[in-house]
Amino acid sequence: MKVNIFKTAEEIGVAVARIFVDEVKNNPNCVLGLATGASPIPTYDNIKKLHKEENVSFKGVKTYNLDEYCDLPKSDKNSYYTFMHEQLFNGLDILEENVHFLDGNAVDSEAECKRYDNEINEAGGIDIQLLGIGNNAHIGFNEPAESFTDGSFKVKLTDSTIEANKIYFDENPMPHYALTMGVKQIMAAKKIILIATGPKKAEAIKNMVKGEVTPLVPASVLQEHDDVLIFLDEAAASLL
Ligand code: GLP
Repeated sequence: MKVNIFKTAEEIGVAVARIFVDEVKNNPNCVLGLATGASPIPTYDNIKKLHKEENVSFKGVKTYNLDEYCDLPKSDKNSYYTFMHEQLFNGLDILEENVHFLDGNAVDSEAECKRYDNEINEAGGIDIQLLGIGNNAHIGFNEPAESFTDGSFKVKLTDSTIEANKIYFDENPMPHYALTMGVKQIMAAKKIILIATGPKKAEAIKNMVKGEVTPLVPASVLQEHDDVLIFLDEAAASLL
């Protein structure tokens, strides 16, 4: 795990966007794993900027998002589908048929998860997976648990996650379930980049980097991947 510490979230966005855009330049048909939340927003802003400035096409790129809420219309302002289009896809020339999400409204969530996992495998696996981290060290929506999860699955969100994310929900109540990629599936990505900013993430970052590898700290599993870049601001890195 290589830890990079920057002064501001904007500087992190510039550095991480560079990695993604270089990947697209070198491999125009790459497969990207994407994340939601506040942490990746500066990265997405800078990817859109570089796409225009350097004329890098995303037409051959495929994306797979980590997770999606259950029982929330796709069109809701808080669906991850809406978030990704507003924050990234609408500013790129990416093709709609190449952007992929778990369908949180699928009647048979087990079949939906299998469909998603098969699609990722058929696409050749994920080249770069972007991650944020929850205050409880969750990745995607893999909450602290007894064992590391495998493929995509339906998860009941913890009180900590509901507390942290409910600030965004003013019209519909925050869903208590989500579909998420599993931990082993995230670990199958060739390269992983995790971004964390702000003091609320400091404890999770300390446990992820310095603690034992345990499913009670889901992000700690990243210690076992051989190509992980961690991008932190000083507040998130303050307990290292
Ligand atoms: C949600 C997402 C995670 C994300 C986390 C942190 O729970 N499912 O993928 O990493 O929020 O979000 P933020 O970056 O807003 O702190």
